[in-house]
Amino acid sequence: MSKSKKLSTAVIYGSARRGRHGIKAARFVVRKLEERDHDVTLVDSEDFDLPLLDRMYKEYETGQAPESMQKLADILEEADGYIVVSAEYNHSIPAALKNLLDHFQSEYLYKPSGIVTYSAGPFGGVRALVNLRAILAELGTPSIPSAFPISQIFKAFDDDGTALDTVYDERIVRFLDEFEWYSHALRQARNHQQCSADSPIQQQMCRGQIKKSL
Ligand SMILES: Cc1cc2nc3c(=O)[nH]c(=O)nc-3n(C[C@H](O)[C@H](O)[C@H](O)COP(=O)(O)O)c2cc1C
Repeated sequence: MSKSKKLSTAVIYGSARRGRHGIKAARFVVRKLEERDHDVTLVDSEDFDLPLLDRMYKEYETGQAPESMQKLADILEEADGYIVVSAEYNHSIPAALKNLLDHFQSEYLYKPSGIVTYSAGPFGGVRALVNLRAILAELGTPSIPSAFPISQIFKAFDDDGTALDTVYDERIVRFLDEFEWYSHALRQARNHQQCSADSPIQQQMCRGQIKKSL
């Protein structure tokens, strides 16, 4: 498998609560990906002024989407894969995260995702994890088999995203090994895909590229 070009990975995080704890987990994941030489962008819902969903990005004419939505679309389009970092709110994912994810569609296609969940309690957000797998599959970015649940988030990392228990440094290795395997494999498959407007199947396979070239 060719691994010559750096992997580009977007870490997507969406809790809008003041004093939110999960940003530390997102920073931890960013650090670990950087250590593995990824081009990493932290997509924090707070940095993008997205409204509650009205029009999806694809519903705007080219060049007419609001600037922050365009910026986000470019990041998602550029990425080879996504690590989604999610809290558990009432056994599901935060509204801010769902709202961000729902604005986009073709940008995700044929790229893998990895799921990181967390909670204040002992279960690490595994019920949100189950929900998130279904959502990501529907969006077209199927999640890798391994996941990374974090319990007692308030004492897991410092503000810079350094793990306060080395168990996280150890556990994340296998998770990111697997994520990289899928990222390389799907990038290779996308690169070999002939995008022709003639074939309906290929049109679907290459939706993103065809939309751009027409
Ligand atoms: C609205 C809401 C719902 C929550 N629901 C759950 C839950 O279902 N399961 C759980 O383990 N923790 C739950 N919690 C506790 C969160 O795991 C904890 O507050 C965590 O720090 C939230 O992430 P954040 O600080 O990044 O927003 C909930 C918290 C909030 C604010």
